[in-house]
Amino acid sequence: MYNAKAYSAASPTARLAAATIVRRDPTETDVQIEILFCGICHSDLHQARNEWSGVMPTVYPCVPGHEIVGRVTKVGTAVSKFKSGDLVGVGCLVDSDHTCPACKKGLEQFCPNMTLTYNFPDKHLGGVTYGGYSDSIVVDQSFVLRVPANLNLAGAAPLLCAGITTYSPMRHWGVTKGKKVGVVGLGGLGHMGVKFAHALGAHTVVFTTSTSKIEDALHLGADEVVLSTDALQMQKHAASFDFILDAVAADHDINAYINLLAVDGNLTQVGAPEKPLAVSIFGLLMGRRSLSGSLIGGIAETQEMLDFCGQHNITSDVEVIPIQKLNEAYERMVKSDVKYRFSIDMASLKSE
Ligand SMILES: NC(=O)c1ccc[n+]([C@@H]2O[C@H](COP(=O)([O-])OP(=O)(O)OC[C@H]3O[C@@H](n4cnc5c(N)ncnc54)[C@H](OP(=O)(O)O)[C@@H]3O)[C@@H](O)[C@H]2O)c1
Ligand SMILES: [Zn+2]
Ligand SMILES: [Zn+2]
Repeated sequence: MYNAKAYSAASPTARLAAATIVRRDPTETDVQIEILFCGICHSDLHQARNEWSGVMPTVYPCVPGHEIVGRVTKVGTAVSKFKSGDLVGVGCLVDSDHTCPACKKGLEQFCPNMTLTYNFPDKHLGGVTYGGYSDSIVVDQSFVLRVPANLNLAGAAPLLCAGITTYSPMRHWGVTKGKKVGVVGLGGLGHMGVKFAHALGAHTVVFTTSTSKIEDALHLGADEVVLSTDALQMQKHAASFDFILDAVAADHDINAYINLLAVDGNLTQVGAPEKPLAVSIFGLLMGRRSLSGSLIGGIAETQEMLDFCGQHNITSDVEVIPIQKLNEAYERMVKSDVKYRFSIDMASLKSE
């Protein structure tokens, strides 16, 4: 075991602060990684503040962070896929059983025995796993991804969660040329959704509550932008979408979007608000519409997404911050004031 520097939350209301945590020494199949950048996902905030107490209560101290890129510093004797110096990524998953039906299909995110990167029982050390707001992490090689060399590292970090969470449902629901696709909420997930829908060739429409984001949405690849607070603009798109991805982190009227789906259209919810959303079933009955959820993506698909980003030169639009600005970043995220992802430069942790 060795000590690593980190930022952790001590309680739902505490500011995140510098801490020392313990990491395991790499086992035969482990990769030790020096973390260079870690994105800030809204899930980090939900979890640090125990907003998902009903589903996955937070164990304190909590070290969030699951959008990790870094450089390999050491590998176990049985590691064949990576060597010291490689640029790698780690997302939301660090372990699964490899044997269940979900794992066999490459859907490790639905494995009943998966381990999430933070706030999940740690099979090696006891306690819970600690995430990427840290200078180092040790992960089994099966859950380590290759980061294409042409990508900017600060902008590549958010691909590990925001990227795969938007790419996976779009691939599953057949987003392609000729389809009309909506993306609701232009935050970290939403802006990646726009980039992917555009790169996959779909006619892409962004729904935002922020007038300040309209111009940006067009630059990010949207064909049209709708201010969702304007009923007339919404009405114009009634019953016309093949697919809508909803990435809103707070309570909102999901029925307004269900009514924009065409016959057999699908709305996939990836945003995970604290409280249940009210769904009007008639919206689904009319037009045989469907409502689904989606959770990140499997390891093979995450690698596919990273390679796709390498080929199309896709990264997240990031505001790079030192870790000392973490609490301020959280406050801005709550106000939808992020363009469009914070990426922590982990070099800043050295001075703590
Ligand atoms: N399913 C998964 O696997 C998965 C993975 C990662 C994250 N998530 C969840 O997805 C959600 C989004 O994460 P994120 O990191 O993208 O968050 P984010 O950067 O904070 O973006 C959320 C966006 O939602 C919109 N929004 C916020 N409050 C709203 C409100 N009251 N009404 C309507 N729109 C509102 C805003 O966009 P506009 O300003 O454009 O309106 C905001 O930028 C979070 O709940 C997170 O936990 C799920
Ligand atoms: Zn996330
Ligand atoms: Zn499994």
